[in-house]
Amino acid sequence: MVTNTKIFLTGATGYIGGSVLQRLLTHPEARSFDITALVRNGEKAKLLESFSVKTIIGSISDFEKVEAAAASSDVVFSIADCDDLPAVQAILNGLKKRHAETGTTPILIHTSGTGVLIDNAEGKYATEDYYSDLDIAKIETLGPQQPHRWVDTAIVAAGEEGYVRTHIILPSSIFGLASGPLFERGISNTHSMHIPMMIRISWNRRGSGIVGPGKNIWPLVHIDEITDLYIVLFDKARKDPSTPNGRQGFYFGENGHFTQYEVAKAIGESLVEKGRTESSEPTTFSAEELDKYFAGIPFLGTNSACKAERSRAIGWKPTKTTKDALESVPAEVDALIGNGQINDAFKLREVLERYSG
Ligand SMILES: NC(=O)c1ccc[n+]([C@@H]2O[C@H](COP(=O)([O-])OP(=O)(O)OC[C@H]3O[C@@H](n4cnc5c(N)ncnc54)[C@H](OP(=O)(O)O)[C@@H]3O)[C@@H](O)[C@H]2O)c1
Repeated sequence: MVTNTKIFLTGATGYIGGSVLQRLLTHPEARSFDITALVRNGEKAKLLESFSVKTIIGSISDFEKVEAAAASSDVVFSIADCDDLPAVQAILNGLKKRHAETGTTPILIHTSGTGVLIDNAEGKYATEDYYSDLDIAKIETLGPQQPHRWVDTAIVAAGEEGYVRTHIILPSSIFGLASGPLFERGISNTHSMHIPMMIRISWNRRGSGIVGPGKNIWPLVHIDEITDLYIVLFDKARKDPSTPNGRQGFYFGENGHFTQYEVAKAIGESLVEKGRTESSEPTTFSAEELDKYFAGIPFLGTNSACKAERSRAIGWKPTKTTKDALESVPAEVDALIGNGQINDAFKLREVLERYSG
């Protein structure tokens, strides 16, 4: 008897999670998937059900619900919060039960981020220290204080115990507006984090801003292509249990890098085009501005540098690179003006406060 693949997904109303869910719904094997999403908003849950997605209303901190959902799943996509260890622990507890009850080894695809690689450059230099997702020994030199790292190491430990096959995708700075039915219906968030946040802050201060001279670099990836990586990995892991997992299960999402200055300059040009400022030239944030927008943490001035070699080795083929990322800025500005989110300059501060707190 052929049984359906039971999939549980967190983050369905988000930028990455909505994109991944959409691709699962149009997957060639979609008819054999039984998809459940954890959603906080009841109205959005109803809308998702019209797409044949089962929903559980709740937060990732509703540990009993999360654990029970994972315990009835063959595959879990964890795409809500890369820093919430208790929530991930609830997923792992559920998957451990699944293993004990069925004798199968379920699959976890968790979302971390290349923020785990950051340094303290304050925009002063571009690092030459690249991490490869094939070089596990180097990844293991990252300290527990690095963002996301304490969650990633707990996941690897679970994978090494053997009751679950764990895979960690580390997206970099994802760019591009998410599109498709879940976004058109207002269910999922259209905007990424990094570039939109730089735009909102630049809009607020009426001029593009950089930390220090803006020489630091970050890896980048287009939203449709990071979504490809989730699906390539999902397909491969289901068909081939030897797909790298556990200690080896790190997959960077990277297809080139940009400097902070390059992005800021593209934003400055868009702001001039919109009449928001007279000069496209980025200026360095003052100490007061670093406090106001970034809770004093010069996160935008960090380096994160990597090569997605394992991701490519499993068949991922990204094509959009730095030029596409820089060219995506005007459409992002238009969309943020169009939906009013251009005025939300302090979202990043809230996230950074969590790190400093
Ligand atoms: N975008 C990037 O460039 C990028 C790069 C690397 C890593 N990441 C990481 O990937 C994850 C997803 O990013 P994203 O860009 O998709 O963010 P997003 O658009 O803000 O989506 C976050 C999703 O997670 C849900 N969520 C957050 N906290 C939750 C909670 N306590 N309980 C239940 N659901 C919760 C949100 O639900 P609501 O709609 O109810 O808020 C939303 O569906 C984040 O951890 C982010 O840091 C993102």
